[in-house]
Amino acid sequence: MTGTGPAVDWEKLRAVARDAMSRAYAPYSGYPVGVAALVDDGRIISGCNVENASYGLGLCAECGLVSELHNTGGGRLTHFTCVDRHGDTLVPCGRCRQLLHEFGGPEMLLETPAGILPLSQMLPQAFGPEHLSK
Ligand code: THU
Repeated sequence: MTGTGPAVDWEKLRAVARDAMSRAYAPYSGYPVGVAALVDDGRIISGCNVENASYGLGLCAECGLVSELHNTGGGRLTHFTCVDRHGDTLVPCGRCRQLLHEFGGPEMLLETPAGILPLSQMLPQAFGPEHLSK
């Protein structure tokens, strides 16, 4: 799906993210979010935010996505997109960039309002699993 592989269908990925966004549970913020990612084996996974009456316990859409990643067989995230209630591209929050880094690494491609960028540009000098073994 990268390099010489087939072109990635970002529109399809956005459509999956929008569909997930339609199932968000965001009664407190009124800000539904949907995310979708391509995995290195070709599957597409998604997630939506799920809030809580105890506000600080709300789960970002990316939390659901990384859970689905592992619950459906693991693998590496290669391409990721996030949308707001209008279906427009949204940047993932800082904490979620760290979640994505764990499973996509610095080379994972991220759709942003400024274009497709590697995660390394959205989370420079990231802390990651390799630091723990040093
Ligand atoms: N949110 C996400 O789900 N992902 C992000 O990357 C940005 C923020 C959610 C959290 C909260 O439920 C709502 O958006 C407003 O912050």
